Amino acid sequence: MSKVDNKKRIHVGEFITTEKIRKNILNVLDSGRISEGPYVNDFEEKWADFIGSKYSVAVNSGTSALIAGLESIKYKYPEKKNLKVITTPLTYIATSNAIVLTGFIPEFVDIDYSNFGISPQNIEKLLENSKKPEEYALILPVHLFGYPVDMNEILKIAKKYNLLVVEDSAQAHGTIYKHQKLGTFSLLSTFSFYIAHNIQAGQLGAIVTNDRDIANLIVQIKSNGRVCICKICTRSMGKCPYSEAEFDPRFTHDKLGYNFRTTELQAAIALAQLEEVEVIIKNRQKNVKILNEYFSEFSEFFQLPKYSKDISYLAYPIILKDKDISLNLFRQNLENEGIETRPIFSYIPNQLAYANLKSKYEGKLTKAEHINKYGFYIGCHQYLNDDDLEYIYSKFKKVILSLGK
Ligand SMILES: Cc1ncc(COP(=O)(O)O)c(C=O)c1O
Repeated sequence: MSKVDNKKRIHVGEFITTEKIRKNILNVLDSGRISEGPYVNDFEEKWADFIGSKYSVAVNSGTSALIAGLESIKYKYPEKKNLKVITTPLTYIATSNAIVLTGFIPEFVDIDYSNFGISPQNIEKLLENSKKPEEYALILPVHLFGYPVDMNEILKIAKKYNLLVVEDSAQAHGTIYKHQKLGTFSLLSTFSFYIAHNIQAGQLGAIVTNDRDIANLIVQIKSNGRVCICKICTRSMGKCPYSEAEFDPRFTHDKLGYNFRTTELQAAIALAQLEEVEVIIKNRQKNVKILNEYFSEFSEFFQLPKYSKDISYLAYPIILKDKDISLNLFRQNLENEGIETRPIFSYIPNQLAYANLKSKYEGKLTKAEHINKYGFYIGCHQYLNDDDLEYIYSKFKKVILSLGK
């Protein structure tokens, strides 16, 4: 996409350094400790509180959160190893990659147009028609753009077929579904704090769970499988639970793991934003509402995002209704006018990395393919003001008119 010089540019997200972020970062730098310590611990506690879970474990990305979460399931439920995971074909690639890299087999079902997430009816159909429902380990829905997948129905199906449920809540920081936040409905749920998310810390992720075994397993897995599960090391204070042992637990490993640890700097940034999370969510909702009002004029061209004050929006998705409009040209024209756009992530079976699955799903996941083919998104982030929203509207109008519409 071309760069626009000297022009206003509306990005999908902005990172702005507040006084609170600056202060937290300086505190970390002055503390003499930048690897995981009190800030990470504090972030974990406050994130668990915000979501409404018992435990939260911070890791270095949302991708790591998915991998660590799925690895922990292999330890707690070894009978589920190498089985199938029912998931969405329309997501950021990390969801499928984590499934494959941990030895599970992704099985895609089509989505619902209303929330871009996997449809419970399609999950049920897949399981009903399966000759071997015991080949399935779990259901892994993604709450795309912050829209809740129908968790009540998914939990009912999971119970009927003895499946675990993991939520990929990377894009849903605080969405409320049936009076509860997303991330609290399943065995474990993963979050990403990558740029442009409601809370953004460069690279950061977290897993939340109410299951102590799972939380402890993830603490081990993210530290190369070492035996320690203390959040903050108490060894130098003589309080290590292994102080009587002849081995040093930090260098004793009873599992295979990764280095998925994060840093104090990431947690310091995230903590500063977490203090303002309700305002961030409300501003994004307000922006979606205002954009919807402006864009109602274009209703013959676009399917617009559903507005709800229960949704914590990642961005503003738009689906072209008029198939004569080229998505690429439309996006290119918006970019030329200073409006940053992004595709609606990936339709996984069309990715080269998943070429082995392409023919299996050919023509079968039509809704996901449609959204990927005709959809894109723009920002609705908390720093957009009324002028920015009007600017977006005026540029859309200009682009539509330039297409002779
Ligand atoms: C749905 C989904 N899952 C997983 C991830 C991976 O998170 P990260 O980029 O922090 O690794 C993302 C990233 O935005 C995502 O959108």
